[in-house]
Amino acid sequence: MTALDLLFPAKEEVPATSALPQVEGRILIGGKILTQGFSRKRVESPCTLRLPDGTLEHPLLGTTPQVSAEILQDAVEAASQAWDRGLGKWPTSRMEERVKSVTAFRDAMKKKRESIARFLMWEIAKPWLESLAEFDRTLSYIDDTIEAVKGLDRDCSRLQFSGGIIAQIRRAPLGVTLCMGPFNYPLNETFTTLIPALIMGNTVVVKIPRFGQLLWEELLEPFAEHFPAGVVNIINGEGRTIIGSAMHSGKIDCLAFIGSSSVASKIKMSHPRPHRLRCILGLDAKNPAIILPSADLKETVSECVKGALSFNGQRCTAIKIIYVPKSLEDKFIADFVSAVDALKCAMPWVAGAQITPLPDQNKPKALQDMVDEAIARGAVLANPSRGGRVVGQFFMPAVLTQVSAEARVANEEQFGPIVPIVTYNDISEVEEAIVNSPYGMQASLFGRDPAQMGRLLDFLSNQVCRININTLCQRGPDVYPFTGRKNSAEGTLSVTDALRAFSIRNMVAAKQDEGGKSIVKAILEGDHSQFLNTNILL
Ligand code: G3H
Repeated sequence: MTALDLLFPAKEEVPATSALPQVEGRILIGGKILTQGFSRKRVESPCTLRLPDGTLEHPLLGTTPQVSAEILQDAVEAASQAWDRGLGKWPTSRMEERVKSVTAFRDAMKKKRESIARFLMWEIAKPWLESLAEFDRTLSYIDDTIEAVKGLDRDCSRLQFSGGIIAQIRRAPLGVTLCMGPFNYPLNETFTTLIPALIMGNTVVVKIPRFGQLLWEELLEPFAEHFPAGVVNIINGEGRTIIGSAMHSGKIDCLAFIGSSSVASKIKMSHPRPHRLRCILGLDAKNPAIILPSADLKETVSECVKGALSFNGQRCTAIKIIYVPKSLEDKFIADFVSAVDALKCAMPWVAGAQITPLPDQNKPKALQDMVDEAIARGAVLANPSRGGRVVGQFFMPAVLTQVSAEARVANEEQFGPIVPIVTYNDISEVEEAIVNSPYGMQASLFGRDPAQMGRLLDFLSNQVCRININTLCQRGPDVYPFTGRKNSAEGTLSVTDALRAFSIRNMVAAKQDEGGKSIVKAILEGDHSQFLNTNILL
């Protein structure tokens, strides 16, 4: 068997459990699942199969809807009617009712575990176990959100007394929310905004990600069945041509977007009243790994390889630049390169596959250009045996050393398997680069010297939003805050932070005198209000 046979298996070598899905995508608007009225785009897998005559094919997975700006506007209108200026059935329902709907949806979704994971695997080439893990993580996120919202409701069920005022403070929904997730976690990251937005009483339009589109097909019926018409609307289309006019309508109150900062800015600016648009944004990053002279090299190499190259480096939290001290340069680069070159490149259904095809067919060329530009500026490709090679839609991880500060790969988010390594003589050079970086999501700090580590933690705490000690950058566990400074984010996500992000604090207040107390008491005892209410959600 040749190396190419391993990269491009024959159709019959695909295990039966990974059978190719085939689907004609639909959309959900106003409670109705629509099969026509829009054009369609073919969806081919980035994975390549070898045909008996030796030619290679990207198998067809189905077609996905490409709606017009008018159809997106219909979806926004449906969400707007379900919101009904805040008077709709969903935004005015008791939290208990919303929890019931989300729980029923979650139970229906649970049955789709394997089929959704299979779409993830075929469409974005996410390794099979990681595809299942994305599904499981999403289900846990829903469960944790349900528990968190019950806790929030319990906390809000208490009256407060201060400065002669009796108050009950609750959180109320914001309105129509547009959710746009990324292609690297098309299920999980979209759901980390969609579920909290829904459970807090907002109505939602989902524009599904650029890749990872067909899995949504599995979810249309459960959404239609478990939520009132118009509360969840799911469409697909070319964002660039349809989102602008939806924003122009002024009917979107909240934007949840995970993608690039330049696109986020354009979308925000399309709103006629930007001051009324609440934004929760997860954006670009250039997370540095800073290796100190005291670092344990074995642990550092292993964390940096995983951090930089898990899922081909297509994670906003990936390590995207490595700073190594001159004293460790040779040893670190040698060990890092041999670990990178040992990564298994294979199709995502192959056990142990670590490097898989890239979903975007234009990406290998874009990465190659970045490598070439860095080399033209003096960088060295440290793993020339396979680094930077393009084979089908695989891009073999490229390790670049002696990267100049001017190179694009030192400044821009590569979002793919290129690892730039910069050698420093004095830590102040690293500090200067980080202070001047337009990004501020996370950093990883590797070392064993508590005094130097402590000083750098303090320095980094005003530059990024999570500092990982001797471990890779990552989002999870999802109960921890996920955010960024500068170009990297707006708002904070976590199980509990997201509930706050998609709601607004609201209070009822009365004087703490006899008149105030007696009217509050009467409303409570008669169970006359959902807001002014001390009942507890169990
Ligand atoms: O792409 C950004 C994701 O939120 C990263 O999540 O760190 O769990 O891979 P992760």
